[in-house]
Amino acid sequence: MGAGPAGLLLGHLLHLEGIDSTILESRSREYVIERVRAGVLEPGTVATLTAAGVGVRLKREGMHHGGIQMAFGGRRHRVDFEELTGGRSITVYGQNEIVRDLIDAHKAAGRAPFFECRQVRIADFDSAPRIEFEHNGEEYQVACDFIAGCDGSHGICRPSIPAACVRVYAREFPFAWLGILAEAPPSSAELVYALHERGFALFSMRSPSITRLYLQCAPGEDASRWNDCRIWDELTTRLETADGWRPNRGRIVQKNVAGMRSMVVAPMRCGRLFLAGDAAHIVPPAGAKGLNLAVADVRLLAEALAAYYRAGRSHLLDSYSDRCLARVWRAQRFSYWMTSTLHRAPDGSEFDYHRQLAELEYATTSRAAMTSLAENYVGWE
Ligand code: FAD
Ligand code: DHB
Repeated sequence: MGAGPAGLLLGHLLHLEGIDSTILESRSREYVIERVRAGVLEPGTVATLTAAGVGVRLKREGMHHGGIQMAFGGRRHRVDFEELTGGRSITVYGQNEIVRDLIDAHKAAGRAPFFECRQVRIADFDSAPRIEFEHNGEEYQVACDFIAGCDGSHGICRPSIPAACVRVYAREFPFAWLGILAEAPPSSAELVYALHERGFALFSMRSPSITRLYLQCAPGEDASRWNDCRIWDELTTRLETADGWRPNRGRIVQKNVAGMRSMVVAPMRCGRLFLAGDAAHIVPPAGAKGLNLAVADVRLLAEALAAYYRAGRSHLLDSYSDRCLARVWRAQRFSYWMTSTLHRAPDGSEFDYHRQLAELEYATTSRAAMTSLAENYVGWE
């Protein structure tokens, strides 16, 4: 269920193992491809996509980053991932490009997801799972061995699980991100995460001509209340450093506000229904972990299903949830640390702000602290 990165990659990995699957998606193909979201890939994610044969464009167009910069107190401080982690680095490549590559791979294999499905329902996933849906005005029923709930945080799979079978751990953050995509060449070769007294800002990119930027704003804020001039002024104020560095300005081609929360569903399984990606867990975006976790989940799920079909062994299916959740809670810890260190809470005090500055100063000067930041950011083997 779902043609986001988790569902599309799982379908593709299963196809490579000779296992048949059907992908159902409620949105249109164009919507799914054009949706602008994450952009930072851990080396493990790049390796998984490459091994699955969908890394050709990623290798050509993905931007290699050996570190990130943290800006506070008017200065930028570099954290050198490659030096601190024995050569590991990140790749900047838009999530929507991964989705495009995966849809192309499905098409090349003669299989396409069913887009624009309506009235999607799942049933009997304790015994003989069934999915019912409408497509192009016709009603369909799919009988299957397993359902993979890859339908994101607003999907139907998780809410279909009886409350007694899972626990949901969640917390909201009292701020959101206004994200923009601008036709402007990136003015830094690396990402810049900034804490300013007016709040968080993030400088990122998508290509040598497109900059991606984020600003902390109030939850539920209306993006249309931010005109382009106000956005650029606020980004410049929060990001610029005493050496004169600031983001290049350009035409803003996309603008949206995303809320921020953490959520974990445990276990990530109920009978023959397995949850993966955002359907099972949400992280606040400052740690750049959401997409990477989705890829890590489905890699394990594909392996587990392959062992089941090849050798009739269900041990990997049985350990799927525990193995995923170990990584998920690590990512929650790191994402929480990045979020709470880099944002100003509406009820936060000047004391908190100065403690956060001291946290950043430590995180960018102590080798031990920088190593911790670096190894968490590039992800775990
Ligand atoms: P999704 O990408 O959400 O895919 C789920 C799919 O299921 C969707 O295509 C959806 O349309 C479909 N679906 C939903 N309901 C149904 C249904 N009933 N039937 C069929 N299909 C259904 N992460 C970062 O690391 N950095 C970021 O900057 C960042 N920005 C984000 C901005 C937004 C607005 C959002 C929502 C997420 C962002 N994330 C970010 C998180 C990251 O994009 C996700 O972790 C990633 O998309 C997870 O992939 P997924 O396949 O699990 O879920
Ligand atoms: C991007 C998004 C993130 O959430 C992040 O932490 C870093 C970069 C991006 O969209 O480029």
